Amino acid sequence: MEIHEYEKFWLAASLLLIVGIIATVTYGAVGVGVSMIDDKGGTIDPKAVDQHPKFGNPGVYKTGANEYDVYVVAKQFVYQPGTNEPIVVPANSTLTFHVTSADVIHGFEVVGTNANTMVIPGQIATFTVEVSGPREYGILCNEYCGAGHHGMEGTLKVVPEDEFNATAGGA
Ligand code: CUA
Repeated sequence: MEIHEYEKFWLAASLLLIVGIIATVTYGAVGVGVSMIDDKGGTIDPKAVDQHPKFGNPGVYKTGANEYDVYVVAKQFVYQPGTNEPIVVPANSTLTFHVTSADVIHGFEVVGTNANTMVIPGQIATFTVEVSGPREYGILCNEYCGAGHHGMEGTLKVVPEDEFNATAGGA
């Protein structure tokens, strides 16, 4: 069987493309540790978010020596906490975020980091990040969620440990 020269070229080019795509995905997953938000966070009734033991009083909960759970409720067009008051966490800690929506699909991106998830009503998005020194991060909604979408933002404030301990009250 004779294969035309051009056909050989395109065969080789498409094979290269397939190998390239697989290599890129593998590198992303293994090389730089990009991981997708999956469904391990579990589900929640979006109409009863305020009845949830943690989402009912969202905020920062200490779970270990330098480990914290951060519960955030997204709704048109605020993060609770995050928008009206910043999410305040101590420096040099490991944060596991649990984010859910009380109405429509939102986004939750910590600007300048790879912490980024969709926030789907009924689902709890869970991801863990490590923060180092004191610094302020912006939080953005990057899923169109209605008329106020463009203004839906918040703040994550990493403060020195002693400052955090001095101000950490209830949650
Ligand atoms: Cu919330 Cu866009």
